[in-house]
Amino acid sequence: MARKKIALIGGGQIGGVLAQLCAQRELGDVVLFDIVEGLPQGKCLDIAEVGPVEGFDVSLKGTNNYADIAGADIVIVTAGLPRKPGMSRDDLIGVNSKIMSQVAEGIKKYAPNSFVIVISNPLDAMVTLCQKITGFPTNRIIGQAGVLDSARFAAFIAWELGVSVRDVTAMTLGGHGDDMVPLIRYASVGGIPVMELLERKYGNAAKAKEVMDAMVSRTRKAGGEVVALLKTGSAFFSPASASLAMVESILKDQKRVLPCCVYLNGEFGVKGYFVGVPTVIGAGGVEKVIEFKLSAEEQAMMDKSVAAVKELVGTLK
Ligand code: APR
Repeated sequence: MARKKIALIGGGQIGGVLAQLCAQRELGDVVLFDIVEGLPQGKCLDIAEVGPVEGFDVSLKGTNNYADIAGADIVIVTAGLPRKPGMSRDDLIGVNSKIMSQVAEGIKKYAPNSFVIVISNPLDAMVTLCQKITGFPTNRIIGQAGVLDSARFAAFIAWELGVSVRDVTAMTLGGHGDDMVPLIRYASVGGIPVMELLERKYGNAAKAKEVMDAMVSRTRKAGGEVVALLKTGSAFFSPASASLAMVESILKDQKRVLPCCVYLNGEFGVKGYFVGVPTVIGAGGVEKVIEFKLSAEEQAMMDKSVAAVKELVGTLK
């Protein structure tokens, strides 16, 4: 069986880590595209020379030519500026929508049958723009935000309760901004609701709520927390890993239930926008949106987050 082809558009921090992860897991041959000459070529050569040590047999090609992504099964877009301290993701919309417009044209021309995963920020607007320009069916365009936001929420819960991150289930819905909706009711450890475990730990409901509220708040601002520490860019290991889970679920038809930014057609009361919701991701891309009833409070938070997404998307020309 021929190897799969994975094209990465943007050879910066996230693109480089993604190239390495795709190669080490032998998910497919990797093409890394960037406009900076030498950068993707240098990173690919460096990673390819890891092959004999780690023992992987995929090819890695760095390029400044879109024609090299031809025939890609999956394209992951990380082209665009990252945040600097004090910036919100939305501040990137002007410059990154220009970049996304070029990138989407390249994908449309050279990889018209690919699945596209968008990571560039502001995520909800960039995935919308990418779909508009490529015209791809909406099952083939997915934004990465929820897997990472949920991973951050899960990490905070695991650290708070002193348990393995592997046994925490947590999920966020909504846009990839400060109004995202970490779902408290469905957060669990080994199937046991986190709120119950917090109440037992602290012996009272008020303190448990206070601790949970702090974790929710930290989740919403978690990207900014990393930016403030790095100062020169934004998180890159975690967004790369998060999108890899999506890539793997598509290529291996795993049908994983992952929160992803997908086009909604009335689900959760949202029509005609890309918003983060739980989905089934498999060989067909977005195979299903998993809908369930939100409490009045959750729906109100979701509506607020969706309103922010609509406002942002409305600023695209
Ligand atoms: N086409 C292709 N690549 C481009 C273009 C373009 N028109 N313009 C810029 N790039 C490249 C840059 O040369 C750079 O190598 O995109 C890369 C971005 O890499 P970094 O600056 O290291 O940013 P990174 O941390 O990888 O984040 C990329 O993902 O999470 C989001 O907010 C983040 O929008 C940012 C994106």
